[in-house]
Amino acid sequence: MIQRSQLDLRKFVAPEFICGYGALHLAGRYARNFGMKQVLLVTDPGVRAAGWAGAVGESLAEAGVSFTVFDSISANPRSRQVMAGTEAYLAEECNGIVAVGGGSPMDCAKGIGIASSSMRDILTFEGVDRVPVPAPPLICIPTTAGSSADVSQFAIITDEGRKRKIAIVSKTLVPDISLLDPEPLTTMPRELTADTGMDTLSHAIEAYVSNASSPMTDVHALEAMRLAVSALPAAMAEPEDLNLRFSTLLASLHAGLAFSNASLGAVHAMAHSLGGAYDLAHGRCNALLLEHVMAANYEAASDRYDRIGAILGQGRATPAEGAAAFRKTLGITGTLAGVGVREDALPALAAAAHADPCMVTNPRSLACEDIERIYGHAL
Ligand SMILES: [Fe+2]
Repeated sequence: MIQRSQLDLRKFVAPEFICGYGALHLAGRYARNFGMKQVLLVTDPGVRAAGWAGAVGESLAEAGVSFTVFDSISANPRSRQVMAGTEAYLAEECNGIVAVGGGSPMDCAKGIGIASSSMRDILTFEGVDRVPVPAPPLICIPTTAGSSADVSQFAIITDEGRKRKIAIVSKTLVPDISLLDPEPLTTMPRELTADTGMDTLSHAIEAYVSNASSPMTDVHALEAMRLAVSALPAAMAEPEDLNLRFSTLLASLHAGLAFSNASLGAVHAMAHSLGGAYDLAHGRCNALLLEHVMAANYEAASDRYDRIGAILGQGRATPAEGAAAFRKTLGITGTLAGVGVREDALPALAAAAHADPCMVTNPRSLACEDIERIYGHAL
């Protein structure tokens, strides 16, 4: 059982953020306030096609801020893409970055910021507090409700050479301001809403049971769970309802404030390993692992998991069963085998997960064999 004291020293880092309808259109004003003259507008082709990058570009132009669009970004952003963006940033002599999109463009934008300020390859920053030079000003505008890259001090980048995701954790990765607008969420496809929603729920649950949790992070983690459970199924039923979308955005915000300061656990360590090896959607990886990690961790933080179980409801016997039932209400019914994972891949996946920095704050210390067993249950 983890012994926590509310008197333990804790630090809480959060960016300035503005949330509400129309926040996206403040991009130009804030870029100008930060003294940005030439902006790298980091986005991806899907967000561009939906019109949101264009709307941000208009706001920048109206404020007299020049910009260059960089959208050569895939899901699970690669180190090569970060370095291509860094080249574009330096070639265009930019002095600020505006990211509009989901976790992939925002993480890539964070990577471009630190790689350009330190003039180093992005892969050299892996780990905690390893960024020597602060990044240029960064404005984040999320178009999904889940990654919380818009408030977190995390960036996750795929190392293509090793087929692994690396976690970079540093206060310099906290955006200077985030503009949280529910409108871009209305164009999210159903599956993306479900996957990013399960990412939110995983952030909240992992932060709440983390052995670095604190009274400050608990408040946000619990509220994130409540909002996600009540608003997500409704937002999927009525995707254009701005109030429901805003509730999911608030859930993501609360979860981000919690996990950015309490860190995460085995779900994310294992999801990073899985996503790096198989190039799967991050939220889907979490969704398929969450209930199995909850079952494995239960004894190490049973009071906390019981509270989570009460919020998840679903009338289930255990919190893990509650999580399993919840993801099914969002239409996520698969298994790891269903997304192409084979049993003989599990030892390598477990070894990579064991080395992930998120594993450090898991409430139960897990050996490679334990992690392999959990992957096995999720097959
Ligand atoms: Fe996540």
